Amino acid sequence: MGQKVAVIGGAGYIGSHISQYLRENGFEVVIFDNFSTGHRESVKDLTFFEGNLLNVVDLDRFFAEHKVEAVLHFAAFSLVGESVENPAKYYYNNVVGTFQLLEAMRRAGVGRLVFSSTAAVYGEPELVPISEDAVQKPTNPYGQTKLAVENMLRDFQKAYSLEYVSLRYFNACGAAYELGEWHEPESHLIPLVLMTALGQREKCFINGNDYPTKDGTCVRDYIHVLDLASAHLLALKHLLAGGGSRVYNLGSGEGYSIREVIETCKEVTGIDFPVEERERRAGDPATLIASSGKIHSELGWSVTKTLKDIVSDAWLWHQKLAERKK
Ligand SMILES: NC(=O)c1ccc[n+]([C@@H]2O[C@H](COP(=O)([O-])OP(=O)(O)OC[C@H]3O[C@@H](n4cnc5c(N)ncnc54)[C@H](O)[C@@H]3O)[C@@H](O)[C@H]2O)c1
Repeated sequence: MGQKVAVIGGAGYIGSHISQYLRENGFEVVIFDNFSTGHRESVKDLTFFEGNLLNVVDLDRFFAEHKVEAVLHFAAFSLVGESVENPAKYYYNNVVGTFQLLEAMRRAGVGRLVFSSTAAVYGEPELVPISEDAVQKPTNPYGQTKLAVENMLRDFQKAYSLEYVSLRYFNACGAAYELGEWHEPESHLIPLVLMTALGQREKCFINGNDYPTKDGTCVRDYIHVLDLASAHLLALKHLLAGGGSRVYNLGSGEGYSIREVIETCKEVTGIDFPVEERERRAGDPATLIASSGKIHSELGWSVTKTLKDIVSDAWLWHQKLAERKK
């Protein structure tokens, strides 16, 4: 058996893929999840512990039962709109939950963590592509909770020698291992568009067509979940080899407009579906593209998947999910 690692939130979209990827790469994976937004079947045949981050007893039992070398922490709520309406829910789960996790790790003597952060910690960027030292001014409570955790990690590193890698994902998408993006409600572009192609939604929307971008629609950076997985593996190996704390962006460095994404979905599915253009949504920056040069030069990470790969893999998954729901 390889080194044992804990995946907190491993029943969710990204955590479930990365759990499989780590196992494929020789790690023994044990998942901790309360299935609040994740799915029992996404755990597949991995070892899991049903527990809540907000419950200290669950955490202490988990670390007593499983002697792990490191923790990968994906568990959080991540709906931006909901975080505006109900910030308490977000601060409690994302910030207090992570605090409880770090304290339990400290009691158990586990000192290495890979953390799921987000491009939302930057808010409206002054410069694009966005580098890790850009100003951090989140425009919503969700981004604020992730920034609060990043600050907590920095302070814990100084005081308690916790070593961590914080990975700021841009738009995670794509699928593998017969798993895929499965959020309820769904809020991400590619799943929403593919659900429209499947006839599960009447139409999809473009929110604003007068942005200062190539075709007037917002430009975003899309990253395949398997490219995220390879970055997590490198981050984990860096920490296990005694490397120090780091913060990295994870994006492809390429920007695609909403219109381009929708066109790629039409091309891949071969289905023409209704698209409606409507007013801008408050708080959407025109362009968000990552500079991922830092993790490339320091850990040797590179992106392998194109937008077409992302949409093709996601399409296979959404067709399967639709069959399963019948
Ligand atoms: N999806 C994206 O594009 C994206 C982009 C940037 C950052 N992120 C971050 O990546 C992480 C994973 O995102 P995802 O899309 O896989 O989300 P998800 O909702 O699919 O997965 C989160 C998992 O954490 C679990 N969880 C939540 N609160 C918990 C608690 N208190 N105790 C135990 N388990 C708990 C859920 O049940 C779920 O299985 C999140 O931290 C999110 O903020 C995601």
